[in-house]
Amino acid sequence: MTKNKTALEDLADRRDQALVAGGEARIKRQHDRGKLTARERIDLLLDEGSFEELGMFVRHQTSAFGLDKNRPYGDGVVTGYGTVNGRLVYVFSQDFAVFGGSLGAAHAEKIIKVMNLALENGAPLIGLNDSGGARIQEGVDSLGGYADIFLQNTLASGVVPQISAIMGPCAGGAVYSPAITDFVFMVKSTSYMFVTGPNVVKTVTQEEVTSEDLGGADAHASKSGVAHVTCANDAECLDRIRKLLSYLPQNCEDRTPRVEGSAPPDASVRELDTLVPQNPNKPYDMHDAITRVVDTDSFFEIHEDYAQNLVVGFARLGGQAVGIVANQPGVLAGVLDIRSSVKGARFVRFCDAFNIPLVVFVDVPGFLPGTDQEWGGVIRHGAKLLYAFCEATVPKMTVITRKAYGGAYDVMNSKHIRGDLNFAWPTAEIAVMGPKGAVEIIYRKQIADAEDHEAIEEEFIEEYRSHFANPYIAAERGFIDDVIEPSNTRDKLIKGLRMLENKVVNNPRKKHGNIPL
Ligand code: HXC
Repeated sequence: MTKNKTALEDLADRRDQALVAGGEARIKRQHDRGKLTARERIDLLLDEGSFEELGMFVRHQTSAFGLDKNRPYGDGVVTGYGTVNGRLVYVFSQDFAVFGGSLGAAHAEKIIKVMNLALENGAPLIGLNDSGGARIQEGVDSLGGYADIFLQNTLASGVVPQISAIMGPCAGGAVYSPAITDFVFMVKSTSYMFVTGPNVVKTVTQEEVTSEDLGGADAHASKSGVAHVTCANDAECLDRIRKLLSYLPQNCEDRTPRVEGSAPPDASVRELDTLVPQNPNKPYDMHDAITRVVDTDSFFEIHEDYAQNLVVGFARLGGQAVGIVANQPGVLAGVLDIRSSVKGARFVRFCDAFNIPLVVFVDVPGFLPGTDQEWGGVIRHGAKLLYAFCEATVPKMTVITRKAYGGAYDVMNSKHIRGDLNFAWPTAEIAVMGPKGAVEIIYRKQIADAEDHEAIEEEFIEEYRSHFANPYIAAERGFIDDVIEPSNTRDKLIKGLRMLENKVVNNPRKKHGNIPL
C-alpha cells in the first residue's frame, strides 16, 4: 500500500515536472513576449478537457555538449489528440521554453507518432510551431528528424487536412514542413519564417532587412503568399484554426460537416440585382456578391491580403461547406495574373482533394499583359489554375456576373472543363475579348478609312456589344445552363448542390498527373 502510494506520488511528481519542463523563468519570458506556452495553446485550440497527451515522459538520449545533464520531460514538444467542436484532431505544440523548441531526434519521433496516428485514423493534424530549428547539439539526427517529418507531411497530403500555425521563430529548412501542409497561419509581431535570416541575407546580398520585414506575418501574407491567414495574437490564431476546421472533412473519404445555415436578409439579397454597375468599366466589390449569396457570416477568406484580384475562401450554402473562387473586379479589374493563378490553383486542388464543392464567381477581363507576366511565366502559372479546374471532380458551379473574356472564360470553371452548373447573370458578357479591343482588331481598316474615326468606332462597339456582350449566345449553345436573376443565385446554387450531392466522376487511371509546376 505504502509502496503504491509512493509510486503514485512519484508519478504525480514527474507529471508536475513535465508540465513546467522549461522552468518558470522561461515560461515567464514567453508570456512577457505576448506568447502563450505550448500547453496553453493546446488548451485554447481543443475542446475543454479533451486533450490526451502522448509521450509526456519522452526524453532525448543525447550526451554531446553535456546534454546528458539536461534531459527535460517532453523534449520540447507536447503531442497528443483531442477534439475540436467534438471532432477528433491530432496536435503537436512546440515548447519554446525547452531548448528553444528546437528539434532533436526524440522531439521529431514524437511528432511523427501523432502524424502516423492522424494518417491511420483519418483525422486532421495541427502543428503549432515555435522553434529555434534543428537542435544544434544533435547535429545530423535533428536534420534526419526534419526529413522524416517532411516525408510524413507529403504522404499525408491530400489524405488528412494539415494545418500549421507559426507562433514564434521558424527558420532554415524547418519552414518546409509548414510549407507542405495545407494552410499556414501566422501570428503578427511574434512569428517569422525564412530560409536564411537577416544576417545571412546581409552577407550574401548586402541587403539590410529586419526579421519582421523579411519573414514576418505581413510579409508572408501580402508578398510571398506563404501565409494563408494572419492573426493579431495566439488566442485569435487558435480560434481561427477552430473555425477553419468547421468547414473541413476529417479526411479525403469523408464529407464536409453540415450545420444549420441562415440566409442573408431579403433586402441585402435584393441588392444583388443592382450590384453590377451599368458601366462595364466600373469596378464593384465581389465580396458584396459572395456575402449576399452564402449563409450569413459564413465566408472565411483564405489569402485575404495576397493576389487580391482573386478572392478564395470557404463558405456555407444552406449549411453545406463550399469553396469559393471569385474574380475581384475591384482589384486590377479582376484580371488573372501569375500570383492569382497560383493562389486559385492551390485552393481548388485542396477543395477537390477533400470533397468540398466549388462555387466560382466570374468577372474577368482576361490575363494580365506585359513582359513581367510573360517572362515570369504567366503561361505556366495560368496553366496551373486551368489544370486544377480541369482535374477537379467535386461538384463545380459557376456564376458569371459580368465579363468572361478569352482564355480566362475557359479557365474559370467553364462548361467545357466540366463545370456542372454554369449560370450567368443578365449582365454577363461572354466573348473572346471586350468590345473595344475586338472592334479595333476586326474593323481596323474601316476605322482608319472613316472620316470620323471615333464615331465609327463607337458605332462598331455598340454593334459588337449588342451582339456579343451578353450571355445569350453561350446560353443558346448550352454552355450556360441558365440566365438567372442575381437575387435568385443563392436558391439556384443550393438546389444545385443538392442535385450534385452524389456526383461521381473518375479521372483516367494514372500514377499522378503532371501539373505545370
Ligand atoms: C539548440 C537552441 C536552438 C537550437 C535556441 N536554442 N535555438 N538550442 N538548438 N537551434 C536555445 C537557446 O540556447 C536558449 O537556451 C533557448 O533556446 C532560447 O533561445 P534564445 O536565443 O535565448 O531566445 P531568443 O533570443 O528568443 O532567440 C530565439 C532564436 C535564437 C532566434 C531562435 O535562439 C536562434 O537564432 N537560434 C538558432 C537558430 C538556428 O540557427 N537554428 C538552426 C536553423 S537551421 P537557454 O538554455 O539559454 O534558455 C535549421 C535546419 C533545419 O533549423 C533543416 C531541416 C532540413
